[in-house]
Amino acid sequence: MSEAVAQDFSTELDVRPLSGSMGAEIFGVDLSALDDAGFAEIYRAFVRYQVIFFRDQVLTPEQYLVFAKRWGGIHQHPFMKHLDDYPGILEIVKTETDTKAFGSSWHSDQMFTQKPAKCTMLYAKEVPERGGDTMFANMYDGHDALSTGMRAMLANLKGWNTGDREKLRGQKASAPDPTVAMSKMTEKAPGDVQTESAHPILRTHKDTGRKALYIGGHTLKIDGWTDAESEPLLTFLKAHAVRPEFTCRFRWQVGSLAIWDNRCVQHFAVDDYAGQRRRMHRITIQGEEIPF
Ligand code: SIN
Repeated sequence: MSEAVAQDFSTELDVRPLSGSMGAEIFGVDLSALDDAGFAEIYRAFVRYQVIFFRDQVLTPEQYLVFAKRWGGIHQHPFMKHLDDYPGILEIVKTETDTKAFGSSWHSDQMFTQKPAKCTMLYAKEVPERGGDTMFANMYDGHDALSTGMRAMLANLKGWNTGDREKLRGQKASAPDPTVAMSKMTEKAPGDVQTESAHPILRTHKDTGRKALYIGGHTLKIDGWTDAESEPLLTFLKAHAVRPEFTCRFRWQVGSLAIWDNRCVQHFAVDDYAGQRRRMHRITIQGEEIPF
């Protein structure tokens, strides 16, 4: 993170940065009793650190939804089932016998739609004794570390991003217990759901005006380029974007809650807890704009 960015933030909140690049834990806040001024401070910290974390939150589903609605409209996932009584809350479960965790590749949520998700929140309900962390990568840093020559070449390029509905369906089929299967899927996604979109590879963040790399596991091709031409550049960019010095890693406890900014962050669910159970409640906030 540049020094100019690092120095321009002061707050009354107890904010403890998690790594040199990004991420901060915020202590002393009860998200079930937040007023407008408190939310405004939290939003400033979110914009400043790209991903923020709270500990020991005790929220009913109703309180979780009230908090989430402060961030924007609740996104209804096109492929995954929400909790029966609470549209908008997805349950992401990996059981002791499931073999693959949901989200265990670098990605930014909903890149394959025209207006991808603004931010995503995850609330830990059950966690493994060890393992099951989530990693995050700061895509501003990924952008800022590119050469001026590379940035100039990328300036007018778009990446084609493809949804992974089929892959997710495959996971459901192999999950042994359909009542707790990872991120339960709808039987059939609606036919008109958009699963492919082209977006600028250098995205301008609406709140900060900064440029961020906007690529991830969903990005399969560069608009107007052949597969053979796209592949080497995307391979480079995907590896570059998640260099260790651009990341932070969060260890979950029951009651931990994270909110990340999909406009400038990729995330990765670390799948290292075979034989243990992990259950998270996820709410995704709708995008406000077509990426520019
Ligand atoms: C996700 O990609 O939304 C899941 C992240 C996680 O479970 O850590």
